[in-house]
Amino acid sequence: MGRVTTTKLARMKKDGEKITMLTAYDYTTAKILDEAGIDILLVGDSLGMVMLGYENTLPVTLDEMLHHARAVGRGTENALLVADMPFLSYEIEAKEAVRNAGRLIKEAGAQAVKVEGGAEIAETIKALVAAKIPVMGHIGLTPQAIHQMGGYKVQGRNSEAAQKLLNDAKVLSKAGIFALVLECIPYQLAKEITGSVEVPTIGIGAGPHCDGQVLVIHDILGLYEEIRPKFVKRYRELGSQIKGAVTEFINEVREGEFPTLKESYE
Ligand code: KIV
Repeated sequence: MGRVTTTKLARMKKDGEKITMLTAYDYTTAKILDEAGIDILLVGDSLGMVMLGYENTLPVTLDEMLHHARAVGRGTENALLVADMPFLSYEIEAKEAVRNAGRLIKEAGAQAVKVEGGAEIAETIKALVAAKIPVMGHIGLTPQAIHQMGGYKVQGRNSEAAQKLLNDAKVLSKAGIFALVLECIPYQLAKEITGSVEVPTIGIGAGPHCDGQVLVIHDILGLYEEIRPKFVKRYRELGSQIKGAVTEFINEVREGEFPTLKESYE
């Protein structure tokens, strides 16, 4: 099948072929998603919430990202592997951003990095691209700016905010990103941005007109209960299934029903 590349994603946009992306944070899940044929695996900094139990993504460190990205890298053969740059690993200065992104590429085997923000980080994106590091942008609701945004709210609702997002998308596209995540914005705005930039847009809570869609794996499997945004579709309820299986195990051990001789050695 061969590894999905950034040039393949550009071709998919041209051909009107939808792009699929999911988060993964560990070897086993990455292997399953990769074998299922997902185009892009994102080691999202959402791992801070769904894997590490932080309240938001802000405490996530580069070392934590590296640890999880390495595991996902070992389980991925075909998907393009993108790793999030965590909060404050790219905002301070471009040189530091290149050094940190380089670690995700060199040490974890990621093929690209993702950064949150608009026109204000265009120069950093240019520096990353100049260092031969493919960059995915992320605008709209950017969880690393949660305190500035005052919560997980739909962005770009008024015309000034919508115009800013459209401009951000164009500036980032010119700066050299290969794809752009649009999070939690009105679907008409996502449609306009998608039609205005050459790079593929990947929506999350941005409606059906984006070039692709991304969701958090814990959300689609019904494993994470703390936040349930409207845009999530829960394809399975594995959380309750796991609880059921564990309850059976506890009861069987307590009742002396497990193990039987079938699970024992002579
Ligand atoms: O961290 C993450 O999981 C993300 C996706 C939701 C796009 O950035």
